[in-house]
Amino acid sequence: MSNKKSFISHFWQEKKMVGSMTPSSKFLAEKMLKNIDFKHCKLIVELGPGNGVFTRKILEQLPEDACLMIFELNVHFYELLKKELDDPRVVLIHDSAENVSKYVQEAGYLCADYVVSSLPLANMSRKICEKIIQESYNILKNHGKYIQFQYSLVSKKVLDVFFQSVHLSFTPLNFPPAFVYTCIKEK
Ligand SMILES: C[S@@+](CC[C@H](N)C(=O)[O-])C[C@H]1O[C@@H](n2cnc3c(N)ncnc32)[C@H](O)[C@@H]1O
Repeated sequence: MSNKKSFISHFWQEKKMVGSMTPSSKFLAEKMLKNIDFKHCKLIVELGPGNGVFTRKILEQLPEDACLMIFELNVHFYELLKKELDDPRVVLIHDSAENVSKYVQEAGYLCADYVVSSLPLANMSRKICEKIIQESYNILKNHGKYIQFQYSLVSKKVLDVFFQSVHLSFTPLNFPPAFVYTCIKEK
């Protein structure tokens, strides 16, 4: 089955969790990653990689000695990535992003440089959404960035509660068109 067909089939099985009918475009991937200073990265955390459209772009630019820690809850996407990502920089975790700080600590890191999230925040309960953002905030270094895309502006309020600054950009070159939130921890 092609990547796109497999994505659509898993969307119909678990609409709320997957949150989108198609993988993101390369234009959205570029927007999501353009504010990352890859040269100085030690740890990037990715939440909700799906079939890995952002993951592969991150790995193209990530230094040899850096780590990409990935959280995927859907078993199909997790197994797919496990099979396809043969890279010593990758730590792939089949668990919810709600538990991100536990894994970061267990891996021996004090903090992450960036969190790149594709999670469907708008489909989640307020409690789970807040827990994930709080955990992401806690693991970020000072001036670290939480970068999230969404198809609407409904998540702006909750991101504003946690982060000291939240910048918005938009790309029509995705299906559906998407907003990118770049949230900076400044404490
Ligand atoms: C909208 S898809 C994005 C996939 C891919 N990054 C893209 O942009 O094409 C959201 C992904 O988040 C995953 N997901 C949903 N809730 C999650 C959670 N609590 N923890 C980890 N992954 C989760 C879904 O299984 C799905 O792969």
